Amino acid sequence: MLNRVNRVAVIGTGFVGSSYAFALLNQGITEELVLIDLNKDKAEGDAMDLNHGLPFAPSRTKIWYGDYSDCGQADIVVITAGANQKPGETRLDLVEKNTRIFKGIVKDIMASGFDGIFVVATNPVDILTYAVWKFSGLPKERVIGSGTILDTARFRFLLGDYFDVDTRNVHAYIIGEHGDTELPVWSHASIAGTSISEWTKNKQGYNQVELDKIFLHVRDAAYHIIEKKGATFYGIAMGLVRLTKAILQNEYSVLTVSAYLDGEYGQSDIFVGVPAVVNRDGIREIVELDLSDEEKQKFEHSIEVLKKTMKPVI
Ligand SMILES: NC(=O)c1ccc[n+]([C@@H]2O[C@H](COP(=O)([O-])OP(=O)(O)OC[C@H]3O[C@@H](n4cnc5c(N)ncnc54)[C@H](O)[C@@H]3O)[C@@H](O)[C@H]2O)c1
Repeated sequence: MLNRVNRVAVIGTGFVGSSYAFALLNQGITEELVLIDLNKDKAEGDAMDLNHGLPFAPSRTKIWYGDYSDCGQADIVVITAGANQKPGETRLDLVEKNTRIFKGIVKDIMASGFDGIFVVATNPVDILTYAVWKFSGLPKERVIGSGTILDTARFRFLLGDYFDVDTRNVHAYIIGEHGDTELPVWSHASIAGTSISEWTKNKQGYNQVELDKIFLHVRDAAYHIIEKKGATFYGIAMGLVRLTKAILQNEYSVLTVSAYLDGEYGQSDIFVGVPAVVNRDGIREIVELDLSDEEKQKFEHSIEVLKKTMKPVI
Protein backbone atom coordinates (compact mmCIF):
# COMPACT_ATOMS: atom_id res chain seq x y z
CA MET A 1 0.00 0.00 0.00
CA LEU A 2 1.24 3.50 -0.80
CA ASN A 3 2.26 5.52 2.21
CA ARG A 4 0.55 8.65 0.84
CA VAL A 5 -0.44 11.56 3.05
CA ASN A 6 -2.39 14.70 2.21
CA ARG A 7 -0.36 17.86 1.86
CA VAL A 8 -1.70 21.42 1.75
CA ALA A 9 0.60 24.32 0.85
CA VAL A 10 -0.38 27.85 1.83
CA ILE A 11 1.16 30.72 -0.12
CA GLY A 12 0.94 33.94 1.91
CA THR A 13 0.77 33.66 5.67
CA GLY A 14 -0.72 37.07 6.39
CA PHE A 15 -4.03 37.56 8.21
CA VAL A 16 -5.96 35.20 5.92
CA GLY A 17 -3.27 32.56 5.37
CA SER A 18 -2.30 32.20 9.02
CA SER A 19 -5.96 32.14 10.17
CA TYR A 20 -6.60 29.43 7.58
CA ALA A 21 -3.60 27.41 8.83
CA PHE A 22 -4.87 27.74 12.41
CA ALA A 23 -8.40 26.65 11.50
CA LEU A 24 -7.08 23.77 9.39
CA LEU A 25 -4.97 22.49 12.27
CA ASN A 26 -7.87 22.79 14.71
CA GLN A 27 -10.10 20.69 12.47
CA GLY A 28 -7.43 18.09 11.72
CA ILE A 29 -8.03 18.20 7.95
CA THR A 30 -4.58 17.52 6.52
CA GLU A 31 -1.54 15.46 7.50
CA GLU A 32 0.99 17.93 6.11
CA LEU A 33 0.88 21.71 6.03
CA VAL A 34 3.61 23.81 4.49
CA LEU A 35 3.67 27.58 4.88
CA ILE A 36 5.32 29.78 2.24
CA ASP A 37 5.63 33.57 2.25
CA LEU A 38 7.87 36.23 0.75
CA ASN A 39 8.39 37.22 4.36
CA LYS A 40 10.19 34.04 5.49
CA ASP A 41 10.31 35.13 9.13
CA LYS A 42 6.53 35.41 9.22
CA ALA A 43 6.09 31.92 7.75
CA GLU A 44 8.72 30.46 10.06
CA GLY A 45 7.22 32.15 13.12
CA ASP A 46 3.76 30.88 12.20
CA ALA A 47 5.06 27.32 11.73
CA MET A 48 6.72 27.40 15.16
CA ASP A 49 3.63 28.88 16.82
CA LEU A 50 1.24 26.37 15.20
CA ASN A 51 3.51 23.42 16.06
CA HIS A 52 3.31 24.41 19.72
CA GLY A 53 -0.45 23.83 19.55
CA LEU A 54 -0.06 20.25 18.30
CA PRO A 55 -0.50 18.62 21.74
CA PHE A 56 -4.00 20.15 21.76
CA ALA A 57 -4.92 19.36 18.14
CA PRO A 58 -7.42 16.63 17.14
CA SER A 59 -4.84 14.78 15.03
CA ARG A 60 -1.19 14.82 14.02
CA THR A 61 -0.20 17.42 11.43
CA LYS A 62 3.34 17.94 10.16
CA ILE A 63 3.81 21.70 9.83
CA TRP A 64 6.84 23.54 8.47
CA TYR A 65 7.76 26.70 6.61
CA GLY A 66 9.08 25.95 3.18
CA ASP A 67 9.59 27.11 -0.35
CA TYR A 68 8.00 26.50 -3.73
CA SER A 69 9.76 23.14 -4.21
CA ASP A 70 7.47 21.81 -1.43
CA CYS A 71 4.43 22.39 -3.69
CA GLY A 72 5.48 19.53 -6.00
CA GLN A 73 3.99 16.96 -3.58
CA ALA A 74 1.01 19.09 -2.54
CA ASP A 75 -2.58 17.97 -3.11
CA ILE A 76 -3.85 21.52 -2.74
CA VAL A 77 -2.09 24.87 -3.00
CA VAL A 78 -4.05 27.65 -1.36
CA ILE A 79 -3.04 31.16 -2.42
CA THR A 80 -3.75 33.98 0.01
CA ALA A 81 -0.70 36.09 -0.90
CA GLY A 82 -0.82 39.64 -2.16
CA ALA A 83 -2.13 43.04 -1.22
CA ASN A 84 -5.37 43.38 0.74
CA GLN A 85 -7.97 46.17 0.63
CA LYS A 86 -7.10 49.38 2.40
CA PRO A 87 -9.99 51.43 3.83
CA GLY A 88 -11.94 52.92 0.91
CA GLU A 89 -10.39 50.58 -1.69
CA THR A 90 -12.59 48.16 -3.65
CA ARG A 91 -11.49 44.61 -4.38
CA LEU A 92 -11.23 45.46 -8.07
CA ASP A 93 -8.68 48.21 -7.23
CA LEU A 94 -6.18 45.46 -6.39
CA VAL A 95 -6.27 43.84 -9.80
CA GLU A 96 -3.02 45.04 -11.40
CA LYS A 97 -0.85 44.67 -8.32
CA ASN A 98 -2.01 41.18 -7.49
CA THR A 99 -2.03 39.87 -11.07
CA ARG A 100 1.66 40.81 -11.30
CA ILE A 101 2.42 39.04 -8.01
CA PHE A 102 0.46 35.97 -9.17
CA LYS A 103 2.40 35.59 -12.41
CA GLY A 104 5.59 34.97 -10.43
CA ILE A 105 3.98 32.80 -7.76
CA VAL A 106 2.19 30.47 -10.18
CA LYS A 107 5.32 30.09 -12.33
CA ASP A 108 7.31 29.00 -9.26
CA ILE A 109 4.58 26.61 -8.11
CA MET A 110 4.30 24.95 -11.53
CA ALA A 111 8.10 24.65 -11.77
CA SER A 112 7.90 22.41 -8.66
CA GLY A 113 5.90 19.83 -10.66
CA PHE A 114 2.64 20.65 -8.84
CA ASP A 115 -0.28 18.72 -10.33
CA GLY A 116 -3.01 19.14 -7.74
CA ILE A 117 -5.82 21.60 -7.10
CA PHE A 118 -5.43 25.36 -6.73
CA VAL A 119 -7.62 27.24 -4.28
CA VAL A 120 -7.44 31.02 -4.59
CA ALA A 121 -8.60 33.59 -2.03
CA THR A 122 -6.64 36.73 -2.90
CA ASN A 123 -8.73 39.61 -4.25
CA PRO A 124 -10.15 40.35 -6.70
CA VAL A 125 -10.67 36.62 -6.33
CA ASP A 126 -12.67 35.88 -9.51
CA ILE A 127 -10.11 37.60 -11.74
CA LEU A 128 -7.11 36.10 -9.94
CA THR A 129 -8.63 32.63 -10.18
CA TYR A 130 -8.87 33.15 -13.93
CA ALA A 131 -5.24 34.31 -13.90
CA VAL A 132 -4.14 31.15 -12.04
CA TRP A 133 -5.99 28.99 -14.55
CA LYS A 134 -4.30 30.82 -17.46
CA PHE A 135 -0.82 30.96 -15.90
CA SER A 136 -0.86 27.32 -14.68
CA GLY A 137 -2.35 25.55 -17.71
CA LEU A 138 -4.21 23.17 -15.34
CA PRO A 139 -7.70 21.93 -16.26
CA LYS A 140 -10.48 24.34 -15.26
CA GLU A 141 -11.93 21.82 -12.78
CA ARG A 142 -8.73 22.01 -10.72
CA VAL A 143 -8.66 25.77 -10.26
CA ILE A 144 -11.17 27.02 -7.69
CA GLY A 145 -11.66 30.48 -6.23
CA SER A 146 -13.25 31.10 -2.84
CA GLY A 147 -15.79 33.15 -4.81
CA THR A 148 -18.90 33.95 -2.79
CA ILE A 149 -18.36 31.19 -0.19
CA LEU A 150 -17.93 33.85 2.51
CA ASP A 151 -20.75 36.09 1.23
CA THR A 152 -23.08 33.09 1.23
CA ALA A 153 -22.01 32.29 4.80
CA ARG A 154 -22.65 35.90 5.86
CA PHE A 155 -26.07 35.74 4.17
CA ARG A 156 -27.01 32.49 5.89
CA PHE A 157 -25.81 33.79 9.24
CA LEU A 158 -27.81 37.03 8.98
CA LEU A 159 -30.96 35.24 7.75
CA GLY A 160 -30.68 32.69 10.56
CA ASP A 161 -30.29 35.53 13.03
CA TYR A 162 -33.30 37.42 11.61
CA PHE A 163 -35.59 34.38 11.59
CA ASP A 164 -34.15 32.92 14.79
CA VAL A 165 -33.26 29.64 13.10
CA ASP A 166 -29.95 27.77 13.08
CA THR A 167 -27.92 29.20 10.18
CA ARG A 168 -27.17 25.64 9.04
CA ASN A 169 -30.86 25.18 8.23
CA VAL A 170 -30.89 28.27 6.02
CA HIS A 171 -30.15 27.60 2.34
CA ALA A 172 -29.54 30.74 0.37
CA TYR A 173 -26.87 31.72 -2.12
CA ILE A 174 -24.98 34.84 -3.04
CA ILE A 175 -23.66 34.56 -6.59
CA GLY A 176 -21.67 36.69 -9.03
CA GLU A 177 -18.52 38.70 -8.36
CA HIS A 178 -17.13 38.46 -4.83
CA GLY A 179 -17.58 42.22 -4.56
CA ASP A 180 -19.87 45.14 -5.18
CA THR A 181 -21.94 43.58 -8.01
CA GLU A 182 -22.76 40.28 -6.25
CA LEU A 183 -26.44 39.38 -5.84
CA PRO A 184 -28.71 37.35 -3.56
CA VAL A 185 -30.72 34.54 -5.12
CA TRP A 186 -33.97 35.21 -3.27
CA SER A 187 -35.89 33.02 -5.70
CA HIS A 188 -34.19 29.93 -4.22
CA ALA A 189 -33.69 30.99 -0.59
CA SER A 190 -35.24 28.56 1.86
CA ILE A 191 -35.39 27.48 5.48
CA ALA A 192 -35.81 23.76 6.09
CA GLY A 193 -37.10 23.25 2.56
CA THR A 194 -39.62 26.10 2.87
CA SER A 195 -39.21 29.19 0.69
CA ILE A 196 -38.62 32.44 2.56
CA SER A 197 -41.93 33.89 1.34
CA GLU A 198 -43.77 30.79 2.57
CA TRP A 199 -41.88 30.92 5.88
CA THR A 200 -42.92 34.54 6.52
CA LYS A 201 -46.56 34.02 5.49
CA ASN A 202 -48.96 34.49 8.40
CA LYS A 203 -46.10 35.57 10.67
CA GLN A 204 -45.86 39.05 12.15
CA GLY A 205 -42.85 41.33 12.03
CA TYR A 206 -41.01 40.21 8.90
CA ASN A 207 -40.80 42.36 5.77
CA GLN A 208 -38.94 42.74 2.49
CA VAL A 209 -37.35 46.05 3.53
CA GLU A 210 -35.51 44.23 6.33
CA LEU A 211 -34.54 41.40 3.98
CA ASP A 212 -33.10 43.91 1.50
CA LYS A 213 -31.09 45.46 4.33
CA ILE A 214 -29.72 42.02 5.17
CA PHE A 215 -28.32 41.72 1.66
CA LEU A 216 -26.71 45.18 1.90
CA HIS A 217 -25.02 44.10 5.15
CA VAL A 218 -23.69 41.03 3.35
CA ARG A 219 -22.43 42.97 0.34
CA ASP A 220 -20.78 45.70 2.44
CA ALA A 221 -19.59 43.51 5.33
CA ALA A 222 -15.91 43.67 4.34
CA TYR A 223 -15.96 47.49 4.26
CA HIS A 224 -17.45 47.63 7.76
CA ILE A 225 -15.00 45.10 9.19
CA ILE A 226 -11.98 46.73 7.50
CA GLU A 227 -13.06 50.11 8.92
CA LYS A 228 -13.13 48.61 12.41
CA LYS A 229 -10.15 46.21 12.48
CA GLY A 230 -8.22 46.73 9.25
CA ALA A 231 -8.84 43.34 7.60
CA THR A 232 -11.23 40.38 7.47
CA PHE A 233 -9.84 36.91 8.00
CA TYR A 234 -11.65 34.49 10.35
CA GLY A 235 -14.75 33.97 8.19
CA ILE A 236 -12.81 33.44 4.96
CA ALA A 237 -10.32 31.18 6.75
CA MET A 238 -13.14 28.88 7.89
CA GLY A 239 -14.67 28.97 4.42
CA LEU A 240 -11.34 27.90 2.92
CA VAL A 241 -11.10 25.05 5.42
CA ARG A 242 -14.62 23.95 4.46
CA LEU A 243 -13.56 23.92 0.80
CA THR A 244 -10.32 22.06 1.59
CA LYS A 245 -12.26 19.41 3.49
CA ALA A 246 -14.77 19.01 0.65
CA ILE A 247 -11.85 18.33 -1.71
CA LEU A 248 -9.66 16.09 0.46
CA GLN A 249 -12.58 14.05 1.78
CA ASN A 250 -14.23 13.74 -1.64
CA GLU A 251 -17.48 15.16 -0.26
CA TYR A 252 -19.43 16.17 -3.38
CA SER A 253 -20.54 19.21 -1.36
CA VAL A 254 -22.34 22.15 -2.90
CA LEU A 255 -20.38 25.33 -2.18
CA THR A 256 -20.55 28.77 -3.80
CA VAL A 257 -17.10 29.02 -5.31
CA SER A 258 -15.56 30.85 -8.21
CA ALA A 259 -15.72 28.29 -11.01
CA TYR A 260 -15.16 28.46 -14.75
CA LEU A 261 -18.35 28.85 -16.76
CA ASP A 262 -18.36 27.13 -20.10
CA GLY A 263 -21.91 27.73 -21.30
CA GLU A 264 -23.61 27.39 -17.90
CA TYR A 265 -25.94 30.33 -17.19
CA GLY A 266 -25.41 31.26 -20.86
CA GLN A 267 -21.91 32.54 -19.99
CA SER A 268 -18.42 31.50 -20.95
CA ASP A 269 -14.73 32.22 -20.38
CA ILE A 270 -15.19 33.60 -16.89
CA PHE A 271 -14.61 32.49 -13.30
CA VAL A 272 -17.44 33.69 -11.06
CA GLY A 273 -19.24 32.71 -7.84
CA VAL A 274 -21.87 30.00 -8.44
CA PRO A 275 -22.98 26.92 -6.51
CA ALA A 276 -20.87 23.95 -7.59
CA VAL A 277 -20.41 20.32 -6.56
CA VAL A 278 -16.89 19.94 -5.12
CA ASN A 279 -15.09 16.61 -4.76
CA ARG A 280 -11.55 15.13 -4.83
CA ASP A 281 -11.19 16.08 -8.50
CA GLY A 282 -12.15 19.71 -7.88
CA ILE A 283 -15.31 21.07 -9.53
CA ARG A 284 -17.51 18.08 -10.46
CA GLU A 285 -20.27 20.28 -11.93
CA ILE A 286 -21.83 23.72 -11.79
CA VAL A 287 -25.31 23.89 -10.26
CA GLU A 288 -27.47 25.95 -12.63
CA LEU A 289 -30.18 27.71 -10.64
CA ASP A 290 -33.30 28.77 -12.49
CA LEU A 291 -32.84 32.51 -11.85
CA SER A 292 -35.66 35.08 -12.03
CA ASP A 293 -35.40 37.69 -14.80
CA GLU A 294 -34.12 40.31 -12.35
CA GLU A 295 -31.50 37.92 -10.94
CA LYS A 296 -30.40 36.97 -14.46
CA GLN A 297 -29.94 40.59 -15.37
CA LYS A 298 -27.90 41.32 -12.22
CA PHE A 299 -25.75 38.23 -12.76
CA GLU A 300 -25.03 39.28 -16.34
CA HIS A 301 -24.10 42.76 -15.15
CA SER A 302 -21.72 41.29 -12.56
CA ILE A 303 -19.99 39.24 -15.25
CA GLU A 304 -19.76 42.26 -17.57
CA VAL A 305 -18.01 44.26 -14.84
CA LEU A 306 -15.54 41.41 -14.20
CA LYS A 307 -14.77 40.97 -17.89
CA LYS A 308 -14.25 44.71 -18.37
CA THR A 309 -11.92 44.91 -15.36
CA MET A 310 -9.80 41.91 -16.31
CA LYS A 311 -9.45 42.77 -20.00
CA PRO A 312 -6.41 45.08 -19.66
CA VAL A 313 -4.49 42.74 -17.32
CA ILE A 314 -5.06 39.15 -18.48
N1 LIG B 1 -11.79 35.83 -0.87
C1 LIG B 1 -12.20 36.39 0.25
O1 LIG B 1 -13.37 36.23 0.63
C2 LIG B 1 -11.24 37.23 1.04
C3 LIG B 1 -11.51 37.65 2.33
C4 LIG B 1 -10.56 38.41 3.01
C5 LIG B 1 -9.36 38.76 2.38
N2 LIG B 1 -9.14 38.34 1.12
C6 LIG B 1 -7.92 38.68 0.37
O2 LIG B 1 -6.85 37.86 0.80
C7 LIG B 1 -5.62 38.52 0.47
C8 LIG B 1 -4.70 38.47 1.68
O3 LIG B 1 -5.22 39.30 2.71
P1 LIG B 1 -4.47 39.43 4.13
O4 LIG B 1 -5.35 40.30 4.96
O5 LIG B 1 -4.04 38.10 4.59
O6 LIG B 1 -3.19 40.28 3.67
P2 LIG B 1 -1.77 40.35 4.44
O7 LIG B 1 -1.11 41.58 3.93
O8 LIG B 1 -1.97 40.18 5.90
O9 LIG B 1 -1.03 39.06 3.90
C9 LIG B 1 -0.54 38.94 2.61
C10 LIG B 1 0.71 38.07 2.70
O10 LIG B 1 1.15 37.84 1.36
C11 LIG B 1 2.56 37.83 1.38
N3 LIG B 1 3.07 38.07 0.03
C12 LIG B 1 3.04 39.21 -0.72
N4 LIG B 1 3.61 38.99 -1.91
C13 LIG B 1 4.03 37.69 -1.93
C14 LIG B 1 4.69 36.88 -2.88
N5 LIG B 1 5.05 37.36 -4.06
N6 LIG B 1 4.96 35.61 -2.55
C15 LIG B 1 4.59 35.10 -1.35
N7 LIG B 1 3.96 35.82 -0.40
C16 LIG B 1 3.68 37.10 -0.69
C17 LIG B 1 2.92 38.96 2.36
O11 LIG B 1 4.24 38.85 2.83
C18 LIG B 1 1.86 38.76 3.44
O12 LIG B 1 2.32 37.92 4.47
C19 LIG B 1 -6.00 39.92 0.05
O13 LIG B 1 -6.01 40.03 -1.35
C20 LIG B 1 -7.42 40.10 0.58
O14 LIG B 1 -8.18 41.05 -0.14
C21 LIG B 1 -10.03 37.57 0.45
